[in-house]
Parts: sequence; C-alpha cells; structure tokens
Amino acid sequence: MKKIVILGSTGSIGVNALDIVRRLGRSWQVLGLSAQNNTDRLIEQALEFKPSLLCVSQPESAKKLLGSLKPLNGSLRVLTGPEGLEELAAHPQADLVLSAVVGSVGLKPLVTAVKKGKTIALANKEALIVAGDLIMKLAKRHRATLLPVDSEHSAIFQCIGSEPKKHIRRIIITASGGPFYKRQASLESVTAEEALAHPTWKMGKKITVDSATLMNKGLEVIEAHHLFGVPYDQIDIVIHPQSIVHSLVEFTDGAVLAQLSHPDMRLPIQYALTYPERLACPIKTLDLKEVGKLEFYPPDFNRFPCLALALAAGRKGGTMPTVLSAANEVAVGLFLNGRISFTDIPAIGEEVMRRHRKPSANPGLDEILAADAWARGQAQTLEKVTA
Ligand SMILES: NC(=O)c1ccc[n+]([C@@H]2O[C@H](COP(=O)([O-])OP(=O)(O)OC[C@H]3O[C@@H](n4cnc5c(N)ncnc54)[C@H](OP(=O)(O)O)[C@@H]3O)[C@@H](O)[C@H]2O)c1
Repeated sequence: MKKIVILGSTGSIGVNALDIVRRLGRSWQVLGLSAQNNTDRLIEQALEFKPSLLCVSQPESAKKLLGSLKPLNGSLRVLTGPEGLEELAAHPQADLVLSAVVGSVGLKPLVTAVKKGKTIALANKEALIVAGDLIMKLAKRHRATLLPVDSEHSAIFQCIGSEPKKHIRRIIITASGGPFYKRQASLESVTAEEALAHPTWKMGKKITVDSATLMNKGLEVIEAHHLFGVPYDQIDIVIHPQSIVHSLVEFTDGAVLAQLSHPDMRLPIQYALTYPERLACPIKTLDLKEVGKLEFYPPDFNRFPCLALALAAGRKGGTMPTVLSAANEVAVGLFLNGRISFTDIPAIGEEVMRRHRKPSANPGLDEILAADAWARGQAQTLEKVTA
C-alpha cells in the first residue's frame, strides 16, 4: 500500500494524478488533498478518495467542506492557509508527497517535506526556481528524494538513468514554442484567450501563459540545473513544435538519448508516482509513421525576451531567480486580468531584476521569502508604470 498526499489536487496536475491513482487501484491510499478555492472539486475528490486531511486557503471554504462532507466527518480534519499546506506536506504516514500547487506558495511546504526526508514528486517548479540551492542542500542533508514531474525533466531523468554525472556532456530541453512561435505579427496585442490556447499541452493558466512567453522554458533550464546538478553552459534549448521528443541527454561519447511519447502529462506523473516501477499507462501509443515528421529549430531570444531573462537570472543565482519568478507570477496575473499587455510581462520581469541591485548570493529561507515579497510589491507598482 502506497500512501500519497497531493498539494494542489484540484489543478491540472492534481486531477491527472488522481486519475492515475484511480487506475492504480487498491494498492494506493490518498491521505490528504488540497485546493485554494475550488471546494466543489475538492468535495468530489474527497468523497471518492476519502482522505483524512484536506486543506483550503480560507476558513469559510473549510466550513463549506465540513458541511458537505458529513459522511466523512468522523475521520476528516480540514486545515487552512499556508500552515495547513505545511502540515499536509509533513504527514507522518505519507510515502509520497506530490507538490502540484502553482507558484512560490509551494516553497514552504516543499521545505517542510524535504526536512522530513520525504519522497517528493515535484510539479511545482516555482519552488525550485526561487530556492533551488537551498532545496537541493536540504534534500541532501535530510535524504529527501525529488522526483521530477515536469515532462522535460522526467525525460531527462529517464535518459540519465544510472549514468554518473561525469558522463553527461549536455542536456537538451525541448520546447513546443507555444501558440506564438510562428506568428509574424507583433505580440503586443495578444489576448489572454490567445495566450491560453496552447497547441500541444492542456495545463493550468499560469504555466500556459509562461509557455506562450517562453518564460516556462527559461524556468525549466533553472529547474534542470538544480535537479541534475548540470552547469548552465551544458543546457541547451531546442524548439520542437510536435512535443513528441520531451528532452534529450548527450553523453561524453557523443551518444544522445531521448524520451518520446505523445504529449500527455499522465505519463511523467505516473512515472514519478510509481518510480522505479514502470506500469501500463493509458496514453496513446506512439506510432512514428503516423506522426510523420519531427522538427527542431533554434529558440528566438529576440521575440521571446523572457527566455534570456530567466537564463540571466539563473546564471546570476542567489535571490535573482526568486525575484524574477515572483515578478513573473504577478505579471502573468495582471495580464490574465487584462491589466497589462503580453509584452509587459517581460518588461516587468526585466525592470524588477534591474531594481534588485544587490542579490544575496547564498540566501536562507527568510531572505528568499523577503526577496519574493519585495519583487511582488515592485511588480504591482510597475503595473501603473506600464498602464
Ligand atoms: N499542468 C501541467 O501540465 C504542468 C506541467 C509541468 C509542470 N507543471 C507545474 O505544476 C504546477 C501546477 O500546475 P497546474 O497546471 O496543475 O496548475 P493549476 O491547474 O492552476 O492548479 C494549481 C493547483 O494549486 C492550487 N493553488 C493555486 N494557488 C494556490 C494558493 N495560493 N494556495 C494553495 N493552493 C493553491 C489550485 O487550487 P484551486 O483549484 O482551488 O485554484 C490547484 O489545486 C505548476 O508549478 C506548473 O508549473 C504543470
């Protein structure tokens, strides 16, 4: 029996993960689930999977849950707020914690799970972007295991297998290019609806906009740097519109391994959940004759400035990625609410980075949280500047 806690169970990753758990059947027990506000979906999930702990952001939502989940009340506790998420992440009986919340709200629960030495399936990339050095150091100290859920990092993880790090010459991360890669016209007037129409993946709103600006790919380079301990000079990006090759690893002898499959997050989620086991997964079988062609292009750094910003932040290290990620979260929210244009997103990220004149080189958790809060405040004020 494997016992799992899912932070962010009502989101795109969370729902797919529960689909996997449902198919895996009785050998899995769901101990805890969480949502921000989507109580209706959380109630449905709780009635089906019968966890003993739930967490929501607001106390009013907790009351609604308890009211609607009377049949489970004897065995159910409802937690609230960031502290509730941390308690969920530290669940003493959990064999696996899947972190699938979006944004740096996932940082403290991740730190908590790592300090408890948990095995963590990590989808919430922002936590690793804002505090990569700290998380990896703590993971080593507390013998926690981080298993990647992001499809590119899952692919890299699978390609590396048991190869020692010294055998890796290069990591090549693929990117679909998002909805605007081939668009000739200016990106200034792009609407939220257009940005949310991803050509190959169906995901939550924040990551979908990040994919359209290519910020997501830049953040993934930082994520790969931390997860696999590979220097930035040895990580490349290639645009691959079909999203069939999920990433590649080149080894010292020149051999390049890749992982291919149709774009369906259930495969990397399941791999993280069942690792090192490989079980049947309900994804479409890959028939390369049907796919026909696989294309690869260099990324366009001029039209997608978020890419260069993220790489610069990653190379600078310390609190610079923290600041960029936090400013980007705010900017994406402003864009989705129609307050700024698509091209203001990199402008805000760049300006907040420029204002962060003295990034701390080796920050602890408090410094990281302070830098995150500072960058959010700066990004909010920049809305007025760009308006
Ligand atoms: N979706 C993908 O295919 C994909 C692929 C690779 C990596 N990822 C990464 O996985 C993470 C989740 O992505 P997603 O697409 O699943 O996002 P999503 O659909 O927006 O879901 C986010 C989840 O987090 C919860 N949440 C949001 N803000 C919160 C807050 N302030 N406090 C507590 N809970 C909060 C949401 O609750 P409500 O439902 O109540 O709002 C929901 O359960 C992101 O870091 C993303 O970059 C996603």
